[in-house]
Amino acid sequence: MDRYRISRRRFLTALGGLGAGLLLRPAWPDRPGRKPLVKPIPASGERLPVIGLGTSRTFDVPPGSEQSHALRPVMQAFFEHGGGVIDTSPMYGNAEAVIGELLGAVPHDRPRLFAATKVWTWGEQEGIEQMQRSMQRVGVERFDLIQIHNLRDWEVQLETLKAWKAAGRVRYIGITTSHGRFHDELEVILETQPFDFVQLSYNIGNRDVEQRLLPLAQERGMAVLVNRPFMRGELFSRVRGKALPAWATEFDCTSWAQFFLKFAVSHPAVTCAIPATSKVHHMIDNMGAAYGRLPDAGLRERMLQHMQAV
Ligand SMILES: NC(=O)c1ccc[n+]([C@@H]2O[C@H](COP(=O)([O-])OP(=O)(O)OC[C@H]3O[C@@H](n4cnc5c(N)ncnc54)[C@H](OP(=O)(O)O)[C@@H]3O)[C@@H](O)[C@H]2O)c1
Repeated sequence: MDRYRISRRRFLTALGGLGAGLLLRPAWPDRPGRKPLVKPIPASGERLPVIGLGTSRTFDVPPGSEQSHALRPVMQAFFEHGGGVIDTSPMYGNAEAVIGELLGAVPHDRPRLFAATKVWTWGEQEGIEQMQRSMQRVGVERFDLIQIHNLRDWEVQLETLKAWKAAGRVRYIGITTSHGRFHDELEVILETQPFDFVQLSYNIGNRDVEQRLLPLAQERGMAVLVNRPFMRGELFSRVRGKALPAWATEFDCTSWAQFFLKFAVSHPAVTCAIPATSKVHHMIDNMGAAYGRLPDAGLRERMLQHMQAV
């Protein structure tokens, strides 16, 4: 009888927790058989879901620890809600190893996974060894995409990446930055070099790349991954306590996270945004931006004006 009482109390507590979870869950269209919005990689026509997953800081936890176990439901929610693109780097501490651990623990459809990492070192041999280590850590036989991180030693690393791509050891090659001070140099590189992807910072609070880099990527037929779509979380501070405008329903947006993500991925040059999160309810919220309508040019202008006013 005592055992029954305890388990009943636990049951009711669990039920209460479930209720709270449901309340936290943002309202977004939850139709069976629905498919996430996708955009094509210009180089191949292969289509990627417009919302991916970044792993800087959030996935840099000790592998095999309580913290890495706590990320399992985050990864699970990502796949369950149509995610595919995962972006990491040897620069992000344990993140590659933690992704490898989670991919081994969380059921997913391998063809839907689009695994992207970076090379971030000086020297040809160092670059090769780093990419080999990344494959072991993430547990993939080949990456879908390897990007040169922050332009580091790009001329040397590009030669290796071109050779790896020609040999079928990587499917696509790219280059990244999140620093405005690299934009001039990146522009010159993109004008002449054969990258399939470029990764940049772009969000409703920082639109520097709209001037030259996004049009150039489009002109050169390069896919664009958007990093820092939330400005590292700063955008949420700007709208704290502010209600989402009622007209956000015109592009099926039910939260500020979706507002920011839909702004980023509705730019015609952008292929996919890679927000980072360590929380399941944030993941579900973010993945909601991969569904429904995207804002058109008129609504994008309205979003900008609204952000200037808040
Ligand atoms: N040069 C490069 O190659 C480069 C540079 C920068 C970034 N990146 C890549 O881009 C990814 C994204 O950039 P980022 O991580 O710097 O910043 P970000 O994605 O703009 O922001 C991440 C922050 O937003 C919070 N957040 C996420 N979803 C939220 C939600 N729904 N509601 C409220 N808060 C939310 C996260 O906290 P919680 O954990 O609490 O959700 C985290 O603090 C990186 O992880 C990395 O993969 C690449």
